[in-house]
Amino acid sequence: MRGIDSRRRCVYRALGVTNAAAGRIMQVSFGQFALPSSGAIVVGVWEDRVLTGPARRLDEETGGAVSRAVNAAPRFHGKKNEILPIIGPPNLTVSRIVIAGLGKPDAIDARILEDLGGHLVAHLNGAGESEAVFAVDLGDAAEPKPDAAAARLAYGAALRGYRFDKYRTRQKPEQKASLKSITVACADPAGANAAHRALAAAAEAVAFTRDLVSEPANILFPESMAEQIASLSEVGLSVEILDEDKMRELGMGALLGVGQGSVRPSRVVVMQHRGGDPSAAPLGFIGKGVTFDTGGISIKPAAGMGDMKWDMAGAGVVVGLMRLLAARQAKANAVGIVGLVENMPSGNAQRPGDIVKSMSGQTIEVLNTDAEGRLVLADILWYCQQRFKPKLMVDLATLTGAVIVALGTDFAGLFANNEQLAERLLAAGKAVGEKLWRLPLSEAYDRAIDSDAADVKNIAGDRGAGSSIGAQFLQRFVNNVPWAHLDIAGVAWSKKDAPTVPKGATAFGVRLLDRFVAEHYEKG
Ligand code: BES
Ligand code: MN
Ligand code: ZN
Repeated sequence: MRGIDSRRRCVYRALGVTNAAAGRIMQVSFGQFALPSSGAIVVGVWEDRVLTGPARRLDEETGGAVSRAVNAAPRFHGKKNEILPIIGPPNLTVSRIVIAGLGKPDAIDARILEDLGGHLVAHLNGAGESEAVFAVDLGDAAEPKPDAAAARLAYGAALRGYRFDKYRTRQKPEQKASLKSITVACADPAGANAAHRALAAAAEAVAFTRDLVSEPANILFPESMAEQIASLSEVGLSVEILDEDKMRELGMGALLGVGQGSVRPSRVVVMQHRGGDPSAAPLGFIGKGVTFDTGGISIKPAAGMGDMKWDMAGAGVVVGLMRLLAARQAKANAVGIVGLVENMPSGNAQRPGDIVKSMSGQTIEVLNTDAEGRLVLADILWYCQQRFKPKLMVDLATLTGAVIVALGTDFAGLFANNEQLAERLLAAGKAVGEKLWRLPLSEAYDRAIDSDAADVKNIAGDRGAGSSIGAQFLQRFVNNVPWAHLDIAGVAWSKKDAPTVPKGATAFGVRLLDRFVAEHYEKG
């Protein structure tokens, strides 16, 4: 039976699954402002139609075409997110001038610039442009400084420029991303480059995560995902793969029970980054990596089941985060642990009512095989604290459909046993635009998962508070370590484009947790 795996690996190689990805579409560079002879040039206009320096310069070059366009367009005011193209401007050889609304000078911040970079990429790709110069001069706007501002624009552009189209072999030209390179103009290109370094690493990490999450489950399964993670030793991460024998030895009966119905063997992957004080306890990041979730014997309905290829998004985010911490040489110690399994029905699958023994020693009555993420996390949360004695643990998981009912697709659910940790995560989420909303844990939920037959059961049995029940189950495996659980089922995949997140895999959590680490755990 296991012979299949080597054959799958070949398929996987033949299809050319490669490491991300970022930059494979668009080149980003910085340079002094110079009028290009072809392509598009982007200039900024403040709210109430006030031209920035480069906009005035182009206005002169074109005999007033810029101010005429700005004054003639009834719906263009220079507010943020407004875009006004002048196609074939007089006296110039560029194909278009793109006038970008900047809003009010004192409202400009890093996020607005990222969004602007994203909007511009979407516009230019829609217009079929292949190169562009961004000459968005913010003048005296105090923050962010020009170098940082240029870097933020480029970052937003890269985030939005991401595409997962490697399996679309028959795309018509107008379906492809046209934009090949952008140059962001700034007075000090070297300074902008320096400011861009960590952001470029972040964009690459986000693209790496989006690639993993987007791959279909015939290509990305526990072994192949583990191989992808192993390749991150190139960026300096130490990577260890635990196979099923090792897991059995460790007593990970909860995780192994989920994977036992699949012909693909399960894996646990441990990633370590040591950039902090050698004696300091690491931060622990834990991800649910169900490479496909059929529900198992408690099988899901057919409609929408294809979405369950992204049931490994939590693991994908942990991998991207660890890659980023290593790439930017974060001054912190961190360990990332992902539990990789495929949840399938088969003659060897676990049955509703089965009782498994988790690594913690607690027995679990599996009343619904579709509540599998919590079983995977139970063992790796336990393993993390036992082996690494972490300072804190944050897990990410597409754990419950109920969190989508509660919060929709704009907020991820946050659960925490520690106030400071919750506050820090909420603030980091706000800062990067990956928003969290805290939901409760409580004694009542804990009573609801007491089992008559075992120590705990994996569902509550009656309806209601499904996300809290899932989180409460996890809490039985964390002892008193400061811990937070992010239920990302509603935010891991997006059906519509957002400024810096094209539809599809979002990588929600990579930027949030990177910010969380940088803000609180890298100083001294
Ligand atoms: N992976 C699903 C949760 C999910 C649903 C993620 C929709 C993304 C979109 C999870 O394993 C699951 O099936 N949860 C069950 C739990 C239930 C059986 C207690 C659910 O939400 O229905
Ligand atoms: Mn499930
Ligand atoms: Zn699942």
